[in-house]
Amino acid sequence: MIVRRRRTVLLITIVLVVLVPACDWMPGRPTPAERWKPKSEIKDFNQLYAQNCSGCHGANGGQGAAQPLNDPVYLALVSDEKLRQTTAHGVPSSLMPAYAESAGGTLTSAQIDVLVAGMRSRWARPNEFNNVGLPPYSIEDAIAKGSGPGNPDRGATVYKTYCAQCHGEEGRGGEKAGSIVDPNFLALVSDQSLRTTVITGRPDMKKPDWRSNLDGQAMTPQQISDVVAWLASLRPGTEAKTPPEVKTARR
Ligand code: HEC
Ligand code: HEC
Repeated sequence: MIVRRRRTVLLITIVLVVLVPACDWMPGRPTPAERWKPKSEIKDFNQLYAQNCSGCHGANGGQGAAQPLNDPVYLALVSDEKLRQTTAHGVPSSLMPAYAESAGGTLTSAQIDVLVAGMRSRWARPNEFNNVGLPPYSIEDAIAKGSGPGNPDRGATVYKTYCAQCHGEEGRGGEKAGSIVDPNFLALVSDQSLRTTVITGRPDMKKPDWRSNLDGQAMTPQQISDVVAWLASLRPGTEAKTPPEVKTARR
């Protein structure tokens, strides 16, 4: 019997070692036409995302250093046009690179379309937001919808109401969350990114969205603009705009 078993093992080994790798019909195996593609021909979302985005935004769109892209709240908030534009042109003075060939990047506009469509189809859950009044994505949208520009003085008060419980009285960090006034952080982050973070939170880090900093008290679009203006006023090089209240608080 031992001999027969050995023969079976040998047969299986032959199948695995010799035959299987030769099979072009195996699932997941590239067909000859798919091999040796120039980079610009790659049209697979997973490959494009892994090669270009996962390093900062996380392997599956979350838990990276940069904000998650797989967050349904974020995808309900942002338009395809904005996703495409940011991916193509990046965000100046931040770590977000420009990907469009026309902007010195490495992706064709067809590849950028694949990324945008892929993020949307994989990670968005539009049906969950039918009855949710999302705040305006950008300050421009907010102003177009009738709210005023952000005001840092009012923002300091908004901060105390909604944020200080976690980020500490002065924003330098508390028990539940780190500093958000660190000059190195503020120097590299855009106002839009701060705004996006205030609206969407960071579900991958248990940071609440605009509805849930305080129980049952969602932030208004004006409060969102104001708290962003307050944070922006603390950016290095914007000393003159620092509200006096904050300066005394810092001592
Ligand atoms: C080197 C790190 C890095 C890489 C790689 C990267 N990003 Fe980003 N991304 C960032 C940072 C940092 C921000 C926030 C920038 C800011 O301050 O506005 C950002 C912002 C964004 C935003 C805008 C978020 C908002 O507020 O609306 C989108 C969309 C985005 N990235 C998509 C992508 C896609 C798609 C890729 C891959 C093609 C990618 N990023 C690769 C770092 C990166
Ligand atoms: C329930 C606690 C909690 C509240 C309330 C809260 N945050 Fe956060 N916040 C977090 C956590 C957790 C993180 C991520 C980890 C960290 O920074 O410690 C975070 C991160 C951030 C970041 C950095 C995001 C990044 O990508 O690095 C900003 C900016 C921020 N919060 C602003 C605010 C503002 C403004 C408010 C008030 C409107 C607020 N937060 C309210 C818990 C909170």
